[in-house]
Amino acid sequence: MLMNAVEKAMMNNPVRAALQRRFEMPLLMEMGGRMQGGRALEVGCGRGVGTELILEMSGAGRVDAFDLDPDMVARASQRLRGHGERVRLSVGDVERIEAEDGAYDAVFDFGIVHHVPDWRSALREINRVLKPGGRFYVEEVLAKFILDPLWRRVLVHPLHDRFDHDGFRDGLKQTGFQVVASRQMWGQFAWFVADKTSRRDTPEPIDVTATGAVS
Ligand SMILES: C[S@@+](CC[C@H](N)C(=O)[O-])C[C@H]1O[C@@H](n2cnc3c(N)ncnc32)[C@H](O)[C@@H]1O
Repeated sequence: MLMNAVEKAMMNNPVRAALQRRFEMPLLMEMGGRMQGGRALEVGCGRGVGTELILEMSGAGRVDAFDLDPDMVARASQRLRGHGERVRLSVGDVERIEAEDGAYDAVFDFGIVHHVPDWRSALREINRVLKPGGRFYVEEVLAKFILDPLWRRVLVHPLHDRFDHDGFRDGLKQTGFQVVASRQMWGQFAWFVADKTSRRDTPEPIDVTATGAVS
């Protein structure tokens, strides 16, 4: 589901970019570690700030990125034009990723899976394109935020079957991931690192933290 004008304004501004650069990407790297080269995919790349951070901070050698919204892909192309062969952008749908099975060493999701009505199908598709043992880095928006009466008035999201932290963790397990770390803040936002596993029902996360500012 595409963003409305209000959400576009909330995403396409320097504050959002600073938050991604100074807080979210460092947190995901702290939780899941850096890649040792290899190919990364960003789903729902928006205007490409996350893609830029993956190129700069994750250790990935190459990054493919796509978004459902051609306007956002155009913005990302503009932002990333200096990165040459290391980045490839396209218009695409996370429920039908144009890549072969096991194509990627890592997949990054900066707040897009909550835009998908059947969000588990997005997780299954992400799992499909990861190599066995490949790593999924996630920042997500939880039901408490999406269903808040104020935000419901100004933003447009699917409202049925939204997930909280534990619901998303369970969704990861059901779609073939093993959660290795998670964080949540205010019950509204969550971060996960999860690895593709051959099993569909995996052990409890080894690091679920609920302390301090990130709780
Ligand atoms: C909240 S924005 C996040 C954008 C960017 N990742 C960021 O953090 O700034 C959600 C993005 O997901 C995209 N999107 C929504 N549904 C999608 C889908 N099915 N496949 C790919 N992208 C999708 C939207 O167009 C939008 O750019």
